[in-house]
Amino acid sequence: MSHDRTSVALAPLADDRAAVYVHFPWCLHRCAYCDFATTARHDPPGDAYRALILRELALRTTAWRPSEIGSVFFGGGTPSLWGPANIAAVLNALTAWSPLSHDCEITLEANPGALESGDLTSYTAAGINRVSIGVQAADDTRLRALDRLHDAAAARTTLREIAALLASGALHSASADLLFGAPGQGFPELEHDLAEVMAYGLPHLSAYALTVEDGTPLAKMVARGLAPPPDDDLQSDMLEALPALLAPWGLDRYEVSNFAKPGHESRHNLVYWRGGPYLALGVGAHGFVPDSAGAGIGLRYDNVRSSALWMARLADDVLAEAHRETIGAAIHRDELMLTGLRLREGIDLAAWRPRLGAEICDALRVRAQLLCDAGAPLRLNGTRLSVTQAGTVQLDRWLLALLDDAGSTVSEAARP
Ligand SMILES: C[S@@+](CC[C@H](N)C(=O)[O-])C[C@H]1O[C@@H](n2cnc3c(N)ncnc32)[C@H](O)[C@@H]1O
Ligand code: SF4
Repeated sequence: MSHDRTSVALAPLADDRAAVYVHFPWCLHRCAYCDFATTARHDPPGDAYRALILRELALRTTAWRPSEIGSVFFGGGTPSLWGPANIAAVLNALTAWSPLSHDCEITLEANPGALESGDLTSYTAAGINRVSIGVQAADDTRLRALDRLHDAAAARTTLREIAALLASGALHSASADLLFGAPGQGFPELEHDLAEVMAYGLPHLSAYALTVEDGTPLAKMVARGLAPPPDDDLQSDMLEALPALLAPWGLDRYEVSNFAKPGHESRHNLVYWRGGPYLALGVGAHGFVPDSAGAGIGLRYDNVRSSALWMARLADDVLAEAHRETIGAAIHRDELMLTGLRLREGIDLAAWRPRLGAEICDALRVRAQLLCDAGAPLRLNGTRLSVTQAGTVQLDRWLLALLDDAGSTVSEAARP
């Protein structure tokens, strides 16, 4: 466990409203590019897993009872394989811990196709009011190259189903995931994918640059020359072009990879990006919760990624953590910058003051002003700091420049 001293006596995480993430760690098939905590299984032990999720909930909530739950996210893996009864049981147990807010956003990640998405109408009856559907591409050849199980027709069928649930009011919102910059996808194909998905009127889209994650089958294929690596320049160009390509459908970028119609921004993900508290349950899940020992701003934990180990530990009524860390001000500053500057709204240094302390906030403000004066694509409006659209493509670079207290000179950092 590590703990940086600067945090002591600073305001801890507010615990009035919580977000909850529940991970479902199985898929029917493991896609070659995927590095998430999931394994391929045709008969996932959904009922046993639900019972253990409820045990973890009981173990994790002895010292923390927020006034309400503002969002719940069932992610994976493929949680649409879990079944509506298990989703309803988890929501019931969460409600016994803390009430769901009147506007609680309850998201289910689903894969296209009848087998993988399950019966979405039954999921809405179980309490789901937002679906995030993993379309990834809208063309069979590229879906096969991505090693996806579904085809474009299955994606269209599920998107049609989601559109009907939105129209009837059974769903309050919905999102689709697309991958961009995968081999075989140039600008015409990207525009085709966007048009295919947006034709269903979804109010939210997540567009991720395909990355080659170490240890995945895709990484091995790229290393052996059996698959081309994604083209970094093309991905940057696409990232830059996405706001204009999505504007005709009324979607605005509110985070580097996320676009929404007004009012449909993901409330759950905003909690992560704004540094709020979230309880996480299940295999490989990461949480950030108030620290009952009062030693830092909050407590961050990662559960083990092995479903067998996680299940064995929980069966013995023991948490299955791989890592736990008390988060102090210096680490929290870096985390907030990493996520907050991805948001169009940026970060409000005045609002951070009670949590991070005056010293850290003032140093950031001075450094941001120097970078702005040197022509960096940053905006400092009063105490609100954000990255311009042009800077979004090179976000990591501006983050480093802002966080670099001792190192590079401003002129060096701000060089285009
Ligand atoms: C882990 S998946 C879970 C949802 C669902 N099983 C699916 O595949 O659509 C969540 C999202 O992560 C993104 N993702 C997974 N691996 C990725 C990678 N290597 N590069 C970029 N995005 C990735 C995909 O767009 C996917 O929709
Ligand atoms: S279906 Fe989703 S979570 Fe499962 S392996 Fe494929 S990308 Fe990963």
